[in-house]
Amino acid sequence: MQLLWPTPIDVQRFDDAAAVNPVLARAFEAIRLMMEDERRSFFASPDDLLERVELPEFRQLVQFIVGSAQQLARQANAQAWPAGRLSLDLRFAGCWFQVQNGQAFHDVHTHGNCSWSGVYYVQVDDTDKRQSHPALGRLNGATRFYGPYSPLQGGAYMDMGNAYLQTNSIDIQPEEGMLVLFPSWLPHKAMAYEGDKDRIIVSFNLQIHSREGNQIHAFAGA
Ligand SMILES: [Fe+2]
Repeated sequence: MQLLWPTPIDVQRFDDAAAVNPVLARAFEAIRLMMEDERRSFFASPDDLLERVELPEFRQLVQFIVGSAQQLARQANAQAWPAGRLSLDLRFAGCWFQVQNGQAFHDVHTHGNCSWSGVYYVQVDDTDKRQSHPALGRLNGATRFYGPYSPLQGGAYMDMGNAYLQTNSIDIQPEEGMLVLFPSWLPHKAMAYEGDKDRIIVSFNLQIHSREGNQIHAFAGA
């Protein structure tokens, strides 16, 4: 038996999170104050953070994201990339921050114009505190990913023979300093969140190009 068409998801932790996250939270709050006329329970910045934020702490985070994404892309494409040395160019197709509280959520979506996407948790209540919310419980502030079978399940046949298809979503529990990388086509949702601290994340979309040209069909399946 072969398990074909996997969905690669990677979770990493940023060693410098304790020093970097509070600096980023303050910088993002300053950007938010400049842009928001009235305080709401959800805020998303423009997707140009790479040009907008010049702090060395932000550069450290970006370096960590780039290194993690390069490693994951290499692993995921081990069979698909040609043998030998490749000159790859990783580009951000957008990087922004989002702030949630007051049970705000970000509904199911995918990201276009990119191959990998990710979320980095800058600030969120500790797990015990977060999951003790009387209404939201353990889903408070989680990130839900929907597996590729999800669109096929409306009215679909179900028995013990295809029970493995029924695990069609996963809820990743956020922690400060955690990075989650996933394929951009994968539908996901930021569940409702309410806490003492705002839930602050950095989101981003990535493209990875070969400097010699993306001759994908020349070696796909090779
Ligand atoms: Fe997203």
